[in-house]
Amino acid sequence: MSRIVHLNGAYLPEQDAKVSIFDRGYVFADGVYEVTAVIDGKLVDYAPHMERLDRSLRELEIAWPCSKDELREVHEELAKRNNVVEGVIYMQVTRGVAERDFAFPKDIPSALMAFTQHKKLLDSPYAASGVKVISIPDIRWKRRDIKSIALLPQCMGKQRAAEAGAFEAWMVEEGHVTEGTSSSAYIVKDGKVITRPLSNAILAGVTRRSLLRLAAEERIEIEERLFTLEEAHAADEAFLTSASTFVMPIVEIDGKSIGSGKPGPIATALRKIYLEAARS
Ligand code: PDD
Repeated sequence: MSRIVHLNGAYLPEQDAKVSIFDRGYVFADGVYEVTAVIDGKLVDYAPHMERLDRSLRELEIAWPCSKDELREVHEELAKRNNVVEGVIYMQVTRGVAERDFAFPKDIPSALMAFTQHKKLLDSPYAASGVKVISIPDIRWKRRDIKSIALLPQCMGKQRAAEAGAFEAWMVEEGHVTEGTSSSAYIVKDGKVITRPLSNAILAGVTRRSLLRLAAEERIEIEERLFTLEEAHAADEAFLTSASTFVMPIVEIDGKSIGSGKPGPIATALRKIYLEAARS
């Protein structure tokens, strides 16, 4: 059965949703996106995703494609029309359609596209076994705080990971881990959760934000600082977070077993705490 997708105000069967070849998203990757999880048919952490979208759009001087209320309705309507009980909603805003020119016109309407994906997020077999990660150099641009649709370095990194039998690739810059190709990165040492502080070097993960708040409420100690790949290899535990994986324990980095080689107690507890909060 074909999905119903959203394109610039219209709900259409996916095969009927067509965009111009002159859309700057297509020509320049000139656009931004968000991925929001759906559990029990409800949007998870919707408000912070939209706050981040607003910031990404402002930083790139791209206009909002519709009102904030309309965008919320698009998310809810897509989940409903496609019967998504568990999955994600992908949405992107591109600058719009214009003759190819690097400099952009300021007066064109931006373009909105959104679609759903059914996914087993709660009972993920990966969460039970833990996942493997490889490390790769971080070759991205310097504004990683913007959730840009220009994702070629991340696609190449994820491909390297898949070919190595791993779930994710952690990117390393000047010896320090920045983040995963599509997730935030954490290690645990001596009971402390260590993760890189927010800056232009990483995306401000929405799951990260919620998780750090929940962890603080549970009196789990958090240290926001840079950490090296060597520290990660020698960590007691490691895990990653994102809207589509929530909290995912890591059991191996670059072929080296982490801790006991099984999902660690803190990562396991944090996954449970996050899911309980997301579903409440
Ligand atoms: N990726 N860092 C990067 C580079 C990301 O692409 C993502 C999310 C995150 C985690 O952010 P959040 O917790 O807000 O999902 C960190 C999404 C899921 C994706 O591209 O599919």
